[in-house]
Amino acid sequence: MIQLVVGSQWGDEGKGKMVDLLSQKADYAVRFHGGNNAGHTVVLNGKKHPFHLVPSGIFSKKAKAVIANGVIIDPQVLIAEMDNLEKEGVRLKNKLFISPRAHLIMPYHKALDEAYENARGKNKLGTTRRGIGPTYADKVSYNGIRVYELVNWPSFVEKFKFQAAIKNKILKLFRVEPIDINRELKIFHGYRQRLLPYVVDTFQLLQKAVDNKKNIVFEGAHGVMLDVDWSPYPYSTGSNITTGAVNTGSGVSNFAIDYVWAVVKAYLSRVGGGPLPTEIIDKNADYIREKGHEYGTTTGRPRRIGWLDLEMVKFTTRLISANRLAITRLDILTGLPKLKICIGYYLNGKKISQSECGYNEMAKLTPRYQTFSGWQEDISGATKLNQLPKNCKKYLRFIESFLKIPIKIISTGADRHDYIKA
Ligand code: GDP
Ligand code: IMO
Ligand code: MG
Repeated sequence: MIQLVVGSQWGDEGKGKMVDLLSQKADYAVRFHGGNNAGHTVVLNGKKHPFHLVPSGIFSKKAKAVIANGVIIDPQVLIAEMDNLEKEGVRLKNKLFISPRAHLIMPYHKALDEAYENARGKNKLGTTRRGIGPTYADKVSYNGIRVYELVNWPSFVEKFKFQAAIKNKILKLFRVEPIDINRELKIFHGYRQRLLPYVVDTFQLLQKAVDNKKNIVFEGAHGVMLDVDWSPYPYSTGSNITTGAVNTGSGVSNFAIDYVWAVVKAYLSRVGGGPLPTEIIDKNADYIREKGHEYGTTTGRPRRIGWLDLEMVKFTTRLISANRLAITRLDILTGLPKLKICIGYYLNGKKISQSECGYNEMAKLTPRYQTFSGWQEDISGATKLNQLPKNCKKYLRFIESFLKIPIKIISTGADRHDYIKA
């Protein structure tokens, strides 16, 4: 069985938890796009484990973890994660595999991300400043450097010197400290020694797994509303967050996927700039942010909060051909007297759909809401449907009937065991 987990909103929907859960029975857990802008959390027995590059399924006793070709890797971040896991007793040998085709995030990519953001001033996009955009830009303009070069060290030295010299000229235009090329080469040589044992042809590894009908879980990073093509660009991230990205990012055909799980947070959050049509600007937002600790896993920034926007989730779930829903963080909504769900948009008094909107339209939309009565009962950790209050079930049934996709998991807490199989 092959499953894909995708965030249906603006990220931080709880993908890490879902991937960990589904990976318990998986043979492979695979990251196929994005970089360490992703911050995925797994909670085991109350202990938080944040992941940025290593697949969130790594705690499964059975699953092998694959960082496939579509991922962009900051070696410093990956090695820190690997060190941490080893300290926690996770053996990585024959457990973690890295594609030589994956591109590397270089120090100049991070410096350029930072420099562009600072130069944009009040129009800054709010990137994670992890070098994501500049690394993907270099990839498609044939200026990227891959794990492949790290393996072939003389090629790495040649390419790094060439690229860093050009990037240093650009950094100078931004009046930013240049990269110390010789120092970085030494550092990267150290990274090479640490990562080399994990580099394998992940294409063959995964093709064999598909042929042998193995269980594979693909871990989408971010949320579809940040997709480089389908977001209100440029309020985007650098990669595609679609079902098709599994094919380009790992070599496995998307036709091989049995289940596409759309992870839907019971409300909305967003970090960074750009329009958020259902943004809550009253005390309900503070209630949700504080109760739900809505601060970024990667950057620690406070997340913006919004009502669940089903016009948008309808768009994203169609786009990824989702056939299962996982609803997360329902427990956080306990205590609110009224809840709102957006069921459509108006622009200048006329109906408009999500797919017709660029960022200008999205900023001016009037959401059409349906209001629901809330519930007061604490549902955290619930594991059975009959533990959910009537109003909570109504809220869920509405989501299911609006999207016409079955809800298969209802998450009621951060821990692996806090969920209801619906
Ligand atoms: P991701 O980027 O989609 O993996 O999500 P993050 O890990 O950035 O943010 C989701 C946060 O919610 C994490 O702290 C999770 O541990 C937590 N979480 C996931 N599911 C639930 C849930 O159903 N209820 C609660 N209270 N927390 C959850
Ligand atoms: P997970 O995987 C939330 C957002 C950034 C910014 C925009 C561009 O944890 O859901 P980038 O650094 O990617 O160039 O920033 O994308 N962003 C995320 N927001 N969760 C994420 O990942 C994100 N990854 C990128 O905040 O608005
Ligand atoms: Mg996150």
